[in-house]
Amino acid sequence: MVTQQEISDAANLIRRGGLVAFPTETVYGLGANALNADAVAKIFELKGRPRFDPLIVHIADVDQLVDLAKVIPPAAAELIERFWPGPLSLVLPKHSSVPDIVTSGLPSVAIRCPDHDVARTFIRATGVPISAPSANRFGMISPTTAAHVRQQFGDQLPTVLDDGPCRIGVESTVVSFVESSDHRPTLLRPGGVTLEEIQAVIGTIDIKAQSEGNPNAPGQLASHYAPTTPLTLVASDWVMDDSIENQKVGLLSFQTHSAAAHFAAVEVLSAKGCLREAAVNLFAALRRLDEMGLDSIIAMPVPEAELGRAIMDRLRRAAAK
Ligand code: TXA
Ligand code: MG
Repeated sequence: MVTQQEISDAANLIRRGGLVAFPTETVYGLGANALNADAVAKIFELKGRPRFDPLIVHIADVDQLVDLAKVIPPAAAELIERFWPGPLSLVLPKHSSVPDIVTSGLPSVAIRCPDHDVARTFIRATGVPISAPSANRFGMISPTTAAHVRQQFGDQLPTVLDDGPCRIGVESTVVSFVESSDHRPTLLRPGGVTLEEIQAVIGTIDIKAQSEGNPNAPGQLASHYAPTTPLTLVASDWVMDDSIENQKVGLLSFQTHSAAAHFAAVEVLSAKGCLREAAVNLFAALRRLDEMGLDSIIAMPVPEAELGRAIMDRLRRAAAK
């Protein structure tokens, strides 16, 4: 539970140019006043994030959008109507009020309105838009509890609004409207709102494969969300060999797996095979395996549809060297 006092203290800290970790429905964010370049610089410093990886700006209410985005194409308006507040970030042409450091100098800005009462009450109390990446050190596993945030930053980040575990568990879907001159929508990152849900509203959209991503934007880079233990994403017809029993190997599986007894540790994402439940459990399960001193982790694939797209995207990046 987060008290009104904690929220108003956190909002004061933001107005003084400080950093606050706060919960959202996807993962915990590391927030600063998006209109204060010096405050935003502290995010990059604390995370160890390269300056060329742009941040998402979080708003409490849709009416804050017009101060940040210069153009709102009709399809973007339809997505906002249907999915905000929610786990969907839209990349739109930016107003000059958004400092370059937020967007890494790009002429566009990613914006989202989180579907989380504490997040929105906090943002509203600051009176400004809040730029926030996931509250983890650069390239590490995203935090889905306040304890994960504290583990990463300790005393370096005293203010963490703790509202328990995140309801979705994977980051927002990022859809860009600046990839083409006619503002056609393009999926940049699969996330909490599924491609199927988006296409049900605005029809087929372009998908920017990871390999086509801007090599200067680490959010699009292969290696990310990485545990320190080597992780291999295997195919669904994977067959166990002796190495599993001769080494300390952990298994990250979607449902229960017939070979589970042979592993040193097992995390099942959803015994009943529910992708939503698997997404909620994904990052915490990865963390638990990573903390066990294993030689390696074998991750089984999940069906690549609906939320399974976001899960597979994160597993591929966790497996990338
Ligand atoms: O669910 C979420 O989106 C979480 C919570 C805290 O809201 N935030 C999050 O932020 O995942 P971060 O920084 O970990 O990921 C931001 C992603 C990156 O892939 C970045 O490259 C992309 O958004 N992005 C931000 N601004 C962009 C822009 N102007 N153009 C293209 N991609 C952009
Ligand atoms: Mg992140």
